[in-house]
This record gives sequence, C-alpha cells and structure tokens, in this order.
Amino acid sequence: MCGIVGYVGKRDCADVLLDGLSRLEYRGYDSAGIAVFENDEIKVAKSKGRLADLAEKMRREGKPQGCAGIGHTRWATHGEPSDRNSHPHSGSRVTLVHNGIIENYKRLKDFLLSVGRTFASDTDTEVVAQLIDYYYEENHGNPVDAIVKAMKELEGSYALGVIFADFPDMVYALRKESPLIVGIGEDESFIASDVTAILQYTRNYYLLEPGEIAVLTRRGAKVYDLHYQQIEKELKTADWDVSAAEKGGYPHFMIKEIHEQPTAVKTTITPRITDGMPDLSECGITPEKLAAFRRIHVVACGTAMHAGMVGKYVIEKLAKVEVNVDIASEFRYREPLVGEGDLVIIISQSGETADSLAALRLAKELGAKTLAIVNAKGSSIAREADMLIYTHAGPEIAVASTKAYMVQIAVMYLFAFELALAKGAIDEAECRRLTALLQETPAQIEAILEQKDHAAQIANTLITADSLLYIGRGLDYALSMEGSLKLKEISYIHSESYAAGELKHGTISLITENMPVIAVATQQKLFDKTISNIKEVKARGAKVVLVSRDSYVPEKDVADFKFGLPDFEDLLMPMLAVVPLQLIAYYTAVLKGTDVDKPRNLAKSVTVE
Ligand code: G6P
Repeated sequence: MCGIVGYVGKRDCADVLLDGLSRLEYRGYDSAGIAVFENDEIKVAKSKGRLADLAEKMRREGKPQGCAGIGHTRWATHGEPSDRNSHPHSGSRVTLVHNGIIENYKRLKDFLLSVGRTFASDTDTEVVAQLIDYYYEENHGNPVDAIVKAMKELEGSYALGVIFADFPDMVYALRKESPLIVGIGEDESFIASDVTAILQYTRNYYLLEPGEIAVLTRRGAKVYDLHYQQIEKELKTADWDVSAAEKGGYPHFMIKEIHEQPTAVKTTITPRITDGMPDLSECGITPEKLAAFRRIHVVACGTAMHAGMVGKYVIEKLAKVEVNVDIASEFRYREPLVGEGDLVIIISQSGETADSLAALRLAKELGAKTLAIVNAKGSSIAREADMLIYTHAGPEIAVASTKAYMVQIAVMYLFAFELALAKGAIDEAECRRLTALLQETPAQIEAILEQKDHAAQIANTLITADSLLYIGRGLDYALSMEGSLKLKEISYIHSESYAAGELKHGTISLITENMPVIAVATQQKLFDKTISNIKEVKARGAKVVLVSRDSYVPEKDVADFKFGLPDFEDLLMPMLAVVPLQLIAYYTAVLKGTDVDKPRNLAKSVTVE
C-alpha cells in the first residue's frame, strides 16, 4: 500500500526511482510520480495509472534529469486516483512523498488555510508538505527543525521522503508506523518502503525507527533523533538476493511463489527441529511458557487469518487448548476478553498490517503474552511482540499470498506439536512421528505441483462462472476459506466458502448448473458426510470439482472433475490440499486475462485501517 523510493548518488535518478517503484508494484497502487533535482531545481512528473503510464508520460513530456530525488506509488485514500492527487506533493520549497494516513489532516488544513496557504489536491499528504513548508519558512530554512516541528503536530501513520528546493542532492526521510528503510551503497544512498526495491543496488540498509530522521547524501546517510543528535545505527544486510524478487522465468510472481513452497517450508521448519523434535527455543518459546497458557487467540487479516483457522483446528485437536480466531479489525474494537494467562498469536506476512499491529498492542495492554508469526524481517509486528517466529518464505511479491500462507501453517503445526507435548496431551513418540511427517510435506508438495496442468484444465471449466462455492468440513472447511479468497482476489469471480454441513440452512438455494462447487474432502473421519453434501449439490445441477485423496474413486454422481492428492496424515492434509486450490485460482485468473500479480483495488501490505 503506497511505495516509496528515494535516491542520491551518481546514477540517473529517474531510472533508479522507476526501477525501485516497479519492485514495489506488488504493494498495490493506482498512480505514481517522481520528483528529481534537475540543475538544482525540483522537477515533478506524475500520472494516474500504472508506472508504464508515468514512463510514457515522461517519454512524451521529458524525463527529469538528475541524480537525486524521490518517487512514489499511491494507493488512494484521501481523494480519487488522479494526476493531481498523485504524489509527490509540494509546498513552496518542500516536496514530499508519503505512505500512511494523517488522521488530523482536516484540523491542520484549516490552520494552513487560515494562514493563507492554498491546496492543489484533495490529499492528506499535501497538508504535510504545506506544514513542513510553513515551519521551514518560519525558521528561515532549517530542514530538520521544520520536519521535527511538523512531526510533533502529525497524528496518524506516515513514512515520508522529503526534499527541499534549497538543498539539492539531499533527501530527508522519517517514519511513524509505516515502514521505511535507508539503503547504503557505494557513493549512493536510498530510501525505500522495503528492501526489495533496492536489492539490485545494495543489500546494506538501516531500519529507520519512529522518531528518527535520516539525511541522505551521496556520501551516505546520517540518522538523527528529534534533538538533532546523531544516532549510531546498526547496518543490516538483507539475506535475500535480487533473484528472490524477480520472476526467474515464470510468467507471474504468483506461480513462481507457488513453486517455491517446498523450499520455503524446508527453510522455515528445519532450523526449528532438533533431534526430530520441534524446538522453538530460539524464538523465546519454551515448554514451561507453553504449559502455562490457558487460552489462545489468533488474530490476523486475510490469508494470514485463514492460516489461523487451520491452526485452531490443529491446536484444539492435539493440545486440547481453546483457540479463538479473530479478524484483527474486529478484535481491536470488540473489547475482547483477553488477559493474563492468554497467548495472542498475530500472524502477518508483512508485519505491518495496521489492524494486526493495533491488535498486538491491545493484547499487550490487556496483559496477554504475544507471539508474532511474521515473514518480513524487522517489521513493526516482529519488533513489538514478546515472542517471534520468523517464517522464511523470502520476499512474497504477488499480492495473492501463497507461500507465506504455506509457511504460516507449517509454523502453526510445529507450534501445536510443541504445545501439545508441553501440555502432556501427546507423548514424545507421537510428537516425533508428527514432526517427521511435517518434514515429508515438501516432497509431497513437489509431487502435487507436477499435476499443475490438470489444475489448468479444471480452471478452464470455471472461467465462465459468475459465482462459485467452496465447501468442506473441519480442516477442509478452514482450507476452503483460503481457496475461495484466492479465487476471488485474482480472477474476480465471486465465491464463498461454506461449511459443507451448513449448506442446507440456506445457501443450497443458490445452487444451479451455473454455480460450480469446489468440494474439499480430505479428512477421513468426515469423508462420508462431505460426500453426502456433495451429492446434494450435484443432484441440484451443480458442476462439482472434488479435491480429495487419490485413494478415493468417486461414484458417477459425485464429481465432474477430481484433483487427487496422496494419502497422508489427516491433520497435515491442508499443507497438500491448498496447492490445487492455489493452482486452480491462478490458472482461472490467467485464462480470464486479469492482472494476476497485481489485482485491481488490492494492496499487498495494508498499512491503514
Ligand atoms: C492484504 C493482502 C492479503 C494479506 C492481508 C494480511 O489484504 O492483500 O494477501 O493476507 O493483507 O497481510 P499480512 O501482511 O498481515 O499477512
């Protein structure tokens, strides 16, 4: 959600900005713009639409030439996507780009209007530009002082890249809530919303903290606190290389990431298994701590919340501990019954989702212990939780999450095994057996991926549908939720997931031959019951796609198409069964010709509530 890139160095700045922004496209955006110092003057180019539209505009109207500047991809919040609302925004001497939301922008705007300032856009961002500009004028040209004064007034979330017309070849950066890193190269420095934007130039970076101001020049970057005292920052090195953020021969990031799942699972679980047993001690999780938790709440958004649903079934079954799963935006305003003795698990790929972060803070306030399961290193959720398990999926670029979900559930399994053992609900032999099975899943996933053409054939039968239903029971229901979300996110076909046993209580009235049903039936104990539900929809004309075990050969009146899965432990079947659901969604979107990696209106990282 909004991407920021800034550069000072020797390269063609506009090219670096466009390249960096293209690597942040996955965050979701609807307009883009850059500002570059050209012969010591700030030149701005911006456009509604994709980066290609901005590039085309610059081809027509001239590309700003220079070696320092800032760039932005905007996901509209205040004001429609348009050229005039695109960033950068300017006051008279200040130009900036912004990620986040300024909550008190109205009050600030009224003040600025009252002192004679005028506005050219509908955005909250322009208010920030005018405010910094106001203080800059007031203090006769001290950039850091103007920024600090403005920061004291701003409420909400922001990451800002700022340039001052009087200080060519310098970029200022600051943040609160929204992420921002400072990249350090040789004779060049960068700012970016995340490290993927600059990986092809440098892997060294500082994590900017709230209340810090970075000042970038060609010679590097210095970071100051609000009293203009320099801060010594730890230089971090990204362990992702540039190929991790490129398509590597695949037509889309999404299919690349689906194929990366076996490796992602291995990389995530291997360091957390010692002598065949789960071992989360490096994450601050010990059997003693686990034994003390009386209740668990999993709080997350979107796909991460669906991973929590799988976790609930697994933890309750194995460890006999109550688990509530909550949507973060509901949890934070619901006055949840959470307190001491509770564990709140926040799952987040980006670690920056505004509602999940707020839920984490609330859980801490209420006295619960918190555990973050996060993919993005150094993100806000990762830093604020009491305990932390990083998933090692590498960068996930496609908006529709696949490999991040896979490793989130892999971690939920490891956690559940260790919890169940700590609670005495399973013995060591069972824990060892389950852990060994989890280690087998990467090979199983590999084998399923080999059937991707079959998923494409199934997808071909779905592209004319206006609406679909996903059904399942137990873990298959938890999985159906994710399958349904994947499909609607990227193919724009409406779909819902339903507990198969609940269909008869209303939804079955929707069934016609125009509403295909994707039925997930992998859980042996519930198998016959799900098959009965499938027969009910089939009898009413629905076309049925069955995702089930190879060993089950459907009778004539059960399924039109079947995607078979190897026979494996019931409890672990979601790790396998999600793959065909991802593939079916992917190929349906490809066949429909949608923008698979960057579906309309969606953002990868939702940093506003
Ligand atoms: C957005 C993304 C989803 C993601 C959700 C939670 O809506 O489009 O793919 O599941 O945010 O994101 P998180 O980074 O917290 O996992």
